[in-house]
Amino acid sequence: MSDALLLAIDQGTSATKAVVVDLGGRVVARASVPVAQVFPQPGWAEQDALEIWRSVQESVRLALSEVDPTRVAAVGLSTQRESMVLWDRATGEPLGPLLGWQDTRGAALCARLRDEGRSDRVRALTGLPLDAMFSASKASALLDVFDPERARSRRGELCLGTVDSWLLWRIGGEHLIEAGNASRTQLLDITTRTWDPTLLALFDVPVEALPRVVASAGADVACRDLAPLSPDVGVTGVLGDSHAALFAHAGWRPGQVKVTYGTGSSVMAVTHRPASADTGVARTIAWELDEPAYALEGNIRSSGATLTWLGALFGRTPAEVAAAAGPTSDGVVLVPAFTGLGAPWWDDQVRATITGVSAGTRLEHLARAGLEAIAFQIEDVVAAAEAAGDAIGTILADGGPTTNADLMQLQADTSGRHVAASHVAELSALGAAHVAGLGAGLWTLADLEALPRPSTAYAPRSDDPGRTERRHRWHAAVSSALSSTHPQD
Ligand code: G3P
Repeated sequence: MSDALLLAIDQGTSATKAVVVDLGGRVVARASVPVAQVFPQPGWAEQDALEIWRSVQESVRLALSEVDPTRVAAVGLSTQRESMVLWDRATGEPLGPLLGWQDTRGAALCARLRDEGRSDRVRALTGLPLDAMFSASKASALLDVFDPERARSRRGELCLGTVDSWLLWRIGGEHLIEAGNASRTQLLDITTRTWDPTLLALFDVPVEALPRVVASAGADVACRDLAPLSPDVGVTGVLGDSHAALFAHAGWRPGQVKVTYGTGSSVMAVTHRPASADTGVARTIAWELDEPAYALEGNIRSSGATLTWLGALFGRTPAEVAAAAGPTSDGVVLVPAFTGLGAPWWDDQVRATITGVSAGTRLEHLARAGLEAIAFQIEDVVAAAEAAGDAIGTILADGGPTTNADLMQLQADTSGRHVAASHVAELSALGAAHVAGLGAGLWTLADLEALPRPSTAYAPRSDDPGRTERRHRWHAAVSSALSSTHPQD
């Protein structure tokens, strides 16, 4: 079986990628197909579930045109998380659009539940703050339109699912959801890994419409409809995309943290510690192999978006802004709360601020402040995860901006931690391939641990005297942004 290949699909918000991986862990073929997103009203973010399915079929067809498809022994799937689809069990046709993870039409329901004092109970069961980003209020919103009395759902005629669930249905006709993805729905008790009756009642979601929860390597769905693969090839690994990137870094143990740099950023670290009080980071199921692994996760809303915003002001691309950054911000601090602040502050209302501006402030200072804002925000979440979990050493970095050596060095200096920036662009797909290989018996964990993980290392400079002062200035600016939004506090 040494010439066996794995096919991994990474279904993300803006594109579906398919990669083919050999048993040495190398990506030997790749394809990407864009998917559209529409924003019909403020706070709404929709996609077409059938277009997503077609993009999966197309990306698989393209990637497999470069290799002999009969060598593919198993398929892995990583997906965008929290987004919700409703479909008809008899016809397989979606009812309405897929509600994307950024869709906040369930905000009023979440606000009502918070007002009723449900936050602590929901957090204790799910590990998540009561927020419209998670699937539960989206499921409720879809049912309110297509099954307001919940009669069809109770009769088992309708299926609800996240993107992994929808794709497993289209690929092999089974209504399943992977444990890590299920933990992002806000309907799962993450300790028992079962749909929780209290949560189902709060969000008015009948259990009959929900998929069966399976372990990350436990789906084994036959590829009945994923040409050119034959039905004897199975989907043997499924993960949420952020979880898959952590898995591909081999960030399997407490003390290792993964940071994905993108428009926003996701910070995630496995923990063996029991749930603690609210520390500003969510608790979630990272994956379930022999047993579930739990992780702490914090999401930052604007990281690369900070450079995009500065670029729009100065008529430059984000990369040009980064390149224009001088050696210091000259005291300027930019708090990029363009859509509020995510972890660890969780404030929807706070708006961006710039402090320390003088007549001499130039693009080079603002650009430097933008880069520093990315590094500060990430370190705040890493520190929150550390406070809630375990001492954290190296930051395992991935995502496009990790090719910016200045940013990576700045992260190491700001955090006082080592940074290892992965050279692999498709880390989520690779993580899904790794779990699929485990599920198919092609790899053991020891095999995976021994795979090469090419990365560039950055060490914190011990001669960085401004580190403490810069962080104080940053926190003063964040506090002033938060208090100017809530003057009564
Ligand atoms: O939580 C949402 C996240 O999974 C979306 O990932 O890569 O599609 O932006 P991505």
